[in-house]
Amino acid sequence: MRTKIVAGNWKMNLHVQEARDLFEGLIKNVPSSSDRKVIIAPPSIYLSEFSLNNKNSSVALAAQNCSEHENGAFTGEISASMLHELGVLYCIVGHSERRQYQKESNLQLKNKVNCLLLNNVAPIYCCGESLEERENGEAFNVVQRQISEALFHLSDSKILNVVIAYEPIWAIGTGITASAEQAQEMHTFIRANLITKYGEEIGSKISILYGGSCKPDNAKELFSKDDIDGGLIGGASLQLDSFMGIILS
Ligand code: PGA
Repeated sequence: MRTKIVAGNWKMNLHVQEARDLFEGLIKNVPSSSDRKVIIAPPSIYLSEFSLNNKNSSVALAAQNCSEHENGAFTGEISASMLHELGVLYCIVGHSERRQYQKESNLQLKNKVNCLLLNNVAPIYCCGESLEERENGEAFNVVQRQISEALFHLSDSKILNVVIAYEPIWAIGTGITASAEQAQEMHTFIRANLITKYGEEIGSKISILYGGSCKPDNAKELFSKDDIDGGLIGGASLQLDSFMGIILS
C-alpha cells in the first residue's frame, strides 16, 4: 500500500500574516483521519515559526530547497541538518523552476538527495519534460535521465524514503493539465524504471505525485489513476478552500 500524499508548494508567495492564516486554517481543517498525508512547503523563512506551532498536527512541513553541502561557507543556503532540527520532514528537490532559473543539474540534485537522506528528511524529487521535449518525442528519455542520474545510486533502503513528483513543465502554472491518461502513462513509465532497478516489491512502494495545474475539479480524476499517488500543488495550494478541495477530493 503506497502513501497517498497531497503537498502544497507555496513557492515565493504569501506575506507573513497570510501565511499564518492559511497554515492555521489547514491545521484546523485537515482531518486527523485523512488517508492522505498532507504536506506544505512554505517559504523557508516561515518554517521555524510553523514548526513550533505544529505539534500533533496532521500537516507535515517541507522545505522548497536545501543546500547540496552539509555545512560551511555557503551564504544564503540552508542545510538538510537545519531542516531536520526544526522537524521538517520533507524537502522538494529539483523543481523545474530551480532547474531553469538556478540551473540545477542532476548531479547537484543527487548531492541534495544524499544530504537530505543522511539527515532523515525525505526528498520530494521533481522530474518532468518541457513542451519542446514532449513535442520532439523526448519526454520519456528526459524523465528517465532525471531519475536515474539523481536517484539510482541509492540503496534499497534509501530509495524507499524518496517521493517522486512528475511535473510536466508545460502544465505548471499554465492552467493546462496533463490529461489523466498522459499523466498515468508517465507515472507507469517511472514505476517501471523503479521496478527494473529495485525490483517489484520496492518499486511498487514508492509514491509518485502529479504536479501541474492540479485543481479541485481535476484532482479526483487524476488521483483515481493506478500510479498517481497524489499531487504536488502550486497555485491551488495558496487558498484554503481550493487546497482543502484537493485534499478531500
Ligand atoms: P501549479 O504548480 O499547480 O501552479 O501548476 C505546480 C508546481 O509547480 O508544483
